[in-house]
This record gives sequence, C-alpha cells and structure tokens, in this order.
Amino acid sequence: MNRISLALAAALLAACHRQPPAASPSVPAAATAATHAATANAPAAYAPGPQRQPSVAELTALGRAVFSEPSLSASGRGSCASCHSPEHGYGPPNRLAAQLGGADGATQGTRAAPSLKYLQTVPPFTEHYHDDDGDDSVDAGPTGGYDWDGRAQSAHEQARGPLLSPREMGNRDDAAVVARLRAGPLAAQFRRAFGEAIFDHPDAAMRGLLMALEVFQQSPADFYPYTSKYDAYLRKQAVLTPQEARGLALFNDEHKGNCASCHISKIGSGGAFPQFTDYGLINLGVPRNGKLAVNADPAYFDLGLCGPDRADLRAHREYCGRFRTPSLRNVALRQVYFHNGGFDDLAQVVRFYAQRDTAPQKWYPRNADGGVHKFDDLPAGLEANVNMEAPFGGRAGGQPALSEREIADVVAFLRTLTDGYGGVKSDIRTRTRP
Ligand code: HEC
Ligand code: HEC
Repeated sequence: MNRISLALAAALLAACHRQPPAASPSVPAAATAATHAATANAPAAYAPGPQRQPSVAELTALGRAVFSEPSLSASGRGSCASCHSPEHGYGPPNRLAAQLGGADGATQGTRAAPSLKYLQTVPPFTEHYHDDDGDDSVDAGPTGGYDWDGRAQSAHEQARGPLLSPREMGNRDDAAVVARLRAGPLAAQFRRAFGEAIFDHPDAAMRGLLMALEVFQQSPADFYPYTSKYDAYLRKQAVLTPQEARGLALFNDEHKGNCASCHISKIGSGGAFPQFTDYGLINLGVPRNGKLAVNADPAYFDLGLCGPDRADLRAHREYCGRFRTPSLRNVALRQVYFHNGGFDDLAQVVRFYAQRDTAPQKWYPRNADGGVHKFDDLPAGLEANVNMEAPFGGRAGGQPALSEREIADVVAFLRTLTDGYGGVKSDIRTRTRP
C-alpha cells in the first residue's frame, strides 16, 4: 500500500470517526483540512460513529465487494462493475455508446463510461492551471476534476453520484442505499468492518460505504499498476517492435500526430511514469452521436464544461464543448470512444484526428444545401471553440497529418498501453522512479 493511500485512508477514518486526527506529518494538508471541517461540524457523543476502525486491507476488500454488488442498485441488476468492468480497464464491457442503468435497469446514459484506471493524479478542477513541471507562468486553462466535464472534485464526491443518479444505480437517497446494503449479502462483512451497531447510524454507514469504494479505487495493484509493455519499455525491460516504435515517434512528433501534447507520453521531471493525459478540458469537435436517446431532441447539446450536467460555468460560452482529456492507458480494451461513445473502432478515432479537417465529409452530415455541417454537435456560432492545433487544421482536400500506414502505426503503439504485459500483474515499486 502506498503512502498516499494510507494517508488518505487514515484521514478518511479520522473524519468518519469524527475525532481530531492524531498529528501526522504524512496526512496531506487538504485531507487534514477536510478532517478538521468534518470534526468542527460534528455533534457530540449523542451521534456516535462506527465502533470499529477497519484496516486499509479490510476497506479495500469491502470496497471491491461493493463495487460488484448489484443489490445496491434500484434495479437489483447493475453495479459499478457493469459499467466499469475490471476486465476492460474498468471501462465499459461492450460497444454500447452509453450503458443502461436507472431504476428499471434499462435507462440509457448520456455519456460513455470512462476507464477508472490512472485517475489517482487527477488534479482538482481549476479554470486556470499552472503546470509545476515546466514554466509555471503559462495558464493551461480549464483542467482536472472527475467526470468528462470535471464537475466532481474527488473520487469521494464522485462515488455518491452513481449510487443516486437516475441513469446509473437509481437510488432515491442515501437512506435507500443503506437499506439495500443492510438487507443485502454484504451486510455481515460491513458489520465486521465497522462494528455490529453500524446500521443504527445510517449516516455513518453511508460514509463507511463511500470510504470503502474510495479506498478500493486507490488500490495500486488494481487501478495503477503500470504493467503495460510501454512501461516495461520505459524501464528498459522490453523492446518495441519497429511498427510500435514508428507509432510512438508519430504520437510524439509535433508536426505529425502531436498526440503527446495532450496525452503526455514521457516520464515526468520527478520520475513519475506518464499518465497519457495532461487533464486539460478541450473541444475536439467530436461528431454528434445519433445513437444516444437524448440526441433525438435537436435542441439538446451535451456541452461538457458549460453544461447541462454542470451548472457553474454556463455563462462561459467559450468553454462549451470542452471535455477532459482521458488517459490512453488501456484504451485498446475499450470498444467505444469519446465522451458520447460515438466511435467504436480505435483506428477510426485516429483517422478522425488525421482527417477531421482534410476530409470533413467523412465525419459530419450534409446540410440541406449540400455543404458539410462541420462540428454538428455544437449550437451554431460556437465553431471557434474547437481545437485547431496539429494534427487538426489542414484545409478540406489537403494532405492529412497521418497516412493510412501511419494511422496503423499509431494504433499499434496504443496497444502497448494495455496493463498486464508478459503476465505482470503489478509493479508499483517503479511507480514514481524509472
Ligand atoms: C450505468 C453505468 C454506470 C454505473 C452503474 C456507474 N458508473 Fe461511474 N461513470 C459512468 C459514466 C457514464 C461516467 C461519466 C459521467 C460523466 O462524465 O458525466 C462515470 C464516471 C465515473 C467516475 C469518474 C471518472 C473520471 O474519469 O473522472 C468514477 C470515479 C466512477 N464513475 C465511479 C463509479 C462507481 C464507484 C460506481 C458504483 C458506485 C459507478 N461509477 C457506477 C457510468 C456508470
Ligand atoms: C489538443 C489535445 C489533444 C490532442 C492533440 C490529442 N487528443 Fe486525444 N483526446 C483529447 C480529448 C479532449 C479527448 C476527449 C474528447 C471528447 O470526448 O470530446 C481525447 C480522446 C481521445 C481518445 C478516446 C479515448 C476514450 O477513452 O474515449 C483517443 C483514442 C485519443 N484521444 C487518441 C489520440 C491520438 C492518437 C492523438 C494523436 C493523433 C490525440 N488523441 C491527440 C485531447 C487531445
């Protein structure tokens, strides 16, 4: 167990127990502040927390069980794992653009389920990001936060969302979740972890449940093992094939793929292995996906950062259409891509980057006058929000930034980012040092 997870678990436990934490230099400042806030609000002894402090190992085991437990959903059929499948990099297990959930287990979501791996370093959302790696006077713009639009500030805040979301696990409120937990197959394990009386205190039970999910999602062996072929290559324990090596070069080349300008591929200055994202929120002009039921309404637009799912930045029209750059680790295990699940083939995704502007008729529908309706998933007038840097920006009919052979090379490289190369399950020793 790494230090951050331990410190996090310690801080969460302290918050959960509503006791001032023992002064510990390893608890991060933010976690300590959160703990203090929780302590300050805590009523006295008449609202006791759980009787027992589970260990990190117990919490991880409990969180793992909760993650796959369908009885916690209103339909009784869906768990976190139905949309975030452990065998698929904790991403969707099928080609559906959006997964089905909700009280009836059949309500379509509005976005593709993201992978839950390599989220441990997602920074909190900010409109003005200053990277501590390079020149910190450069404002990289909106960055970070959980979900495609960065609206959730932490995995902790995020976890309550799916349990209650009408499109996901469909519970009415916290009490409904706790009632299902109490009546379900995990009740005994939950009592063993938090004490026999835990269900007498539904608030504490809900906090315990969220904590278990959060601690599980911090488990390095499951969520950030760094065991791909590319990691082995960075450790000089594997050699890329000529095609993979060409793909890597194209991925990094500013005048070709330029992918690494957003999907970071190099070891960071502190020795941290790359996450294949800089967490920036960017508008790529991804085509509208007619397979999403919400899109039957021509007036509906999922505009990411400017709404409708987040409400705080609606006035910022220049942010409309921006979504958080996902990590590309384990991307080859996905069968749907982009926030709206509009693509189902990895080579097509790379081709879209290469040909969005040189062959727009391949990606966008025609207008009544026969012209191409570029950027058809944005309301009229917001076209200038779309990113135009390489590999984008060529003129219609011009040379694409990548040829067909080069697209195949980039895809071959992307396949080296899948964890479990050579049967290695986890090597967290090299997490921060090459
Ligand atoms: C019905 C499908 C579904 C279920 C069930 C579901 N999720 Fe998700 N999850 C999604 C979708 C879709 C998103 C993206 C939401 C968005 O961007 O608005 C998401 C986003 C997330 C994120 C943020 C990821 C990121 O990249 O920022 C986390 C963390 C997460 N889910 C955890 C969970 C947990 C834990 C559970 C179970 C308690 C769960 N999910 C259940 C579909 C689901
Ligand atoms: C300007 C920043 C930027 C550049 C350059 C860039 N990407 Fe992306 N990438 C993004 C963003 C943002 C998304 C999500 C967009 C969305 O869903 O609306 C994304 C999504 C993806 C996805 C889908 C992943 C998933 O989980 O759905 C793949 C695959 C991908 N990029 C590969 C590449 C490749 C290959 C290149 C180079 C040819 C590249 N990207 C260049 C920002 C960038």
